[in-house]
Amino acid sequence: MENILVTGGAGFIGCNFVRYILKNEPDVQVTVYDKLTYAGRLENLANLKESYGRRYHFIQGDICDAAKVEETVTASDIDTIINFAAETHVDRSILDPDAFVKTDVYGTYVLLEAARKFGNLRFHQISTDEVYGHIEGQRRSVEGDGLDPRSPYSASKASAELFVNAYNITYGLPVTISRGANNIGPYQYPEKVVPLFITNALASMQLPVYGDGQQMRDYQYVTDHCAAIHLILRRGRIGEAYNVGTGSEMTNLAMVEILLDELGRPRSLIQHVEDRLGHDRRYSLDVAKIMALGWEPDHTPEEAIRATARWYRENSWWWQPIRDGEFQDYYQTVYGDRKALDLPR
Ligand code: NAD
Ligand code: TYD
Repeated sequence: MENILVTGGAGFIGCNFVRYILKNEPDVQVTVYDKLTYAGRLENLANLKESYGRRYHFIQGDICDAAKVEETVTASDIDTIINFAAETHVDRSILDPDAFVKTDVYGTYVLLEAARKFGNLRFHQISTDEVYGHIEGQRRSVEGDGLDPRSPYSASKASAELFVNAYNITYGLPVTISRGANNIGPYQYPEKVVPLFITNALASMQLPVYGDGQQMRDYQYVTDHCAAIHLILRRGRIGEAYNVGTGSEMTNLAMVEILLDELGRPRSLIQHVEDRLGHDRRYSLDVAKIMALGWEPDHTPEEAIRATARWYRENSWWWQPIRDGEFQDYYQTVYGDRKALDLPR
C-alpha cells in the first residue's frame, strides 16, 4: 500500500479517511477520485495540498467512466483501491434509485475490472450494516449472516459486495470489505439524520423524527471507522468482510435527546412525522471480528453525538452554504408535505 486511490474521497467518510491516512502513513501517496456530486465537496479536502504537497492529488471523475478510471490508475501507479464512492442516502434512493444502481453497482464493477486488468490490485470495498436488513430482537449481525437488504440503497450496496466477492473467487482479486454502522462527525452532508437535526436545532426548526422514533442505530464516530479501515488494509484477511461499529445501538429518540441537551435546545423541537417507506427498525452489529484484529472505538455513541454537535455548532461556515443552496429543494421534497404525527410521549 504505497499509492492508494480513494474513490469518493471528497465525501464525508472519504475526506476523513484521506486526512487520517496522510497523517498516519507518511510513506503513502493518496489520489482522490471523485465525481463531485451534491455530496462531494472540495472544501472537505481544503489545505491538503498545502500540508502534504505531492503526497496528495485530486482528480475529478466518475467511477462509471472506465477509460478515466484506467487512465488514473496507470498515471498514478495505483496499487490499492479503496472504494468509498457511492450514492448514500436512503431517502434519495426511495425517491429515485437510478443513480444508486449506476454508481453503487456498475461503478464498483468498473473499479473491480480496473483492479483486475492492472495486475490484481488490492481492493477494499466500503459497505454498510444496512446490507443485513432489519435485525429482530436481541440478535446481532455476524459477518457470515446472509444479506437481506430492503431499501434501494442497501440493495445496491449488497449487490456491489456480491461483485467484490465474485472477483475474489473467480479472479483471485485480493479484496476485503468493511460493513460500517451509522457514521457521524465532521463534514457529513446535512441530509443524514444527525447533522440534519443539529443544524435544524441550531436554526430553531423542528426535528422531523420518522414514525415513533424507536428505530435503533449504532452511531459511531467517523475517525473510529477510519482507523478500522486502516487496520483491515494492513492486517485484514483477504476475501473477508468485517463489521465496524461500536456494538451498541440506541433509539433515534435517545440520539435526539442527547444532541438537544448538548446544544441546550428544548425537547419541544421534536416533531414526529410520517415514517420512511420500508424503514428498517434495527441494525445491530457483532464487532468481535474487527476487535480481534486489535481495534476498538475511541468514542461511545453518546460521545460521538456530542462531539458532532459541537463541530457543527462551531463550523457553520461549512454547512450554512449547503443549507442555503440545492438542499432547500431537497428539504421541500422530502419534508414539505410530510404529515405530522401526534404521538403520546
Ligand atoms: P457521501 O455521500 O458523503 O459521499 C459520497 C462521495 O462519493 C461524494 O464525494 C460523491 O461526490 C462521490 N461520488 C458519488 N457518485 C460518484 C461517482 N459516480 N463517481 C465518483 N464519485 C462519486 O457518503 P459517505 O457517508 O461518506 O459514505 C462513503 C461510503 O461509506 C459509501 O460507500 C457508503 O455506502 C458507505 N457507508 C456510509 C455510512 C454512513 O453512515 N455515512 C455507513 C456505512 C457505510
Ligand atoms: P439516516 O441518517 O438517513 O441513516 P440510515 O437510514 O441510513 O440509517 O437515518 C438514521 C435514522 O434516523 C433512521 O432510522 C431514519 C431516521 N431519520 C429520521 O427519523 N428523520 C429524518 O429526517 C432522517 C433523515 C432520518
